[in-house]
Amino acid sequence: MNRIWFAAVFVMLVLAVNALADDNTPVPLTAVSVHSLGPERLGNLPAMTAPPDNPQTPGKVLLGKKLYFDTRLSADNTISCATCHDPAKGWSDAGPTSSGIRGQLGGRRAPPVVNAAYSPLQFWDGRAPSLEEQAKGPIQNPIEMGNTHEVMIATLSKLTGYTEEFKAVFGTAPITVDQVAQAIAGYERTIVTTDSPFDRYVQGDQSALTSQEKQGLEIFNGKGHCSSCHWGGYFSDGRFHNLGVAPVGGAKPDEGRFAVTKNVADMGAFKTPTVRDAAKRAPYLHNGSEKTLEDVVMLYDRGGGTDNTNLDPLMVPLGLSNREVAALVAFMKRAAVSTNPSVADEKPIPESELPK
Ligand code: HEC
Ligand code: HEC
Repeated sequence: MNRIWFAAVFVMLVLAVNALADDNTPVPLTAVSVHSLGPERLGNLPAMTAPPDNPQTPGKVLLGKKLYFDTRLSADNTISCATCHDPAKGWSDAGPTSSGIRGQLGGRRAPPVVNAAYSPLQFWDGRAPSLEEQAKGPIQNPIEMGNTHEVMIATLSKLTGYTEEFKAVFGTAPITVDQVAQAIAGYERTIVTTDSPFDRYVQGDQSALTSQEKQGLEIFNGKGHCSSCHWGGYFSDGRFHNLGVAPVGGAKPDEGRFAVTKNVADMGAFKTPTVRDAAKRAPYLHNGSEKTLEDVVMLYDRGGGTDNTNLDPLMVPLGLSNREVAALVAFMKRAAVSTNPSVADEKPIPESELPK
């Protein structure tokens, strides 16, 4: 009798353990073991620090904000930084890719300016080493703001409101391109996240996430191994990966990081974007080819896109259930969205209040 009981309990235990294992067994991730990118962990962002050669001052930040929202930096007074990095659109634009001066369409999606200050390299291919360097680019880009630095400086220098403000902030005259870039970068360093439901959860507030969002976070760090690439406070490794994203509608294949390094391993690889505030800035990826967060998760679930000649070894089918997909999306949709007023509720400076 005892023996039969023992056998029955044993069988039940084995079944129970198997059932548990079925739920949690990670799909064989052969790739993960060969890839040691760093701590598979998320967290709060560290306090923002400015580089020693561009210290933050309140005057500089305000000047940078005015420049950011000022269309007079463009050749025909129609385009500002905020045209493509609009606070109301998650600091990006409607997409899928950006349209600049005279309605010209670019080939890439506008990445978010929110928390960009935490990115070690700027642009999808990482070609700019700092926010200061980055900010000079769009002004002269023929399909973005279509201007030249010389003309832009001449325009600003005719406005006494600006000449006085630059003098007060930098202590020198005349206005230079470097000062314009420094002020804009100073402003961008204030568009950073210190608070979101996720951040409160990390600080110990168990009630900050719903149980579904907690499950989503677990999958992000576990079965989905999202945090192999989206890790740290910025939810990004700052590196470049090829997810197999195919060009849309006959577009030329985008070389991505290869254009900078000329290393074949970087062909079609793009910078890991932050997942913070992603819910605010559909569509997604460097070419805006995925419409929703669900679509992005399904791309990962399939093990990447169709253009898989140089696929990152971490892209493997995930075998997520519908519930797991929903949990991941729930985590990104609310928990990872910033509640900082400077991020969530920033308003453009009205034209009437810009320097004259
Ligand atoms: C016409 C649309 C447009 C305008 C105007 C524009 N940008 Fe961008 N921005 C983009 C696109 C598209 C990219 C990505 C380009 C690439 O990766 O090659 C980008 C990239 C960036 C990045 C890099 C973010 C990252 O994570 O890599 C920053 C920061 C940025 N822009 C700030 C600015 C600032 C500041 C201005 C104004 C001086 C500005 N942009 C004007 C479209 C625009
Ligand atoms: C191999 C590294 C890697 C892994 C693993 C990974 N990502 Fe990504 N993620 C990236 C890169 C790189 C991009 C941009 C790719 C592109 O545009 O071609 C991206 C883009 C995204 C975007 C779009 C963000 C935007 O602003 O366009 C979201 C959302 C996202 N990933 C979520 C996830 C989730 C959820 C998982 C886990 C299921 C995951 N990622 C796993 C590297 C990775």
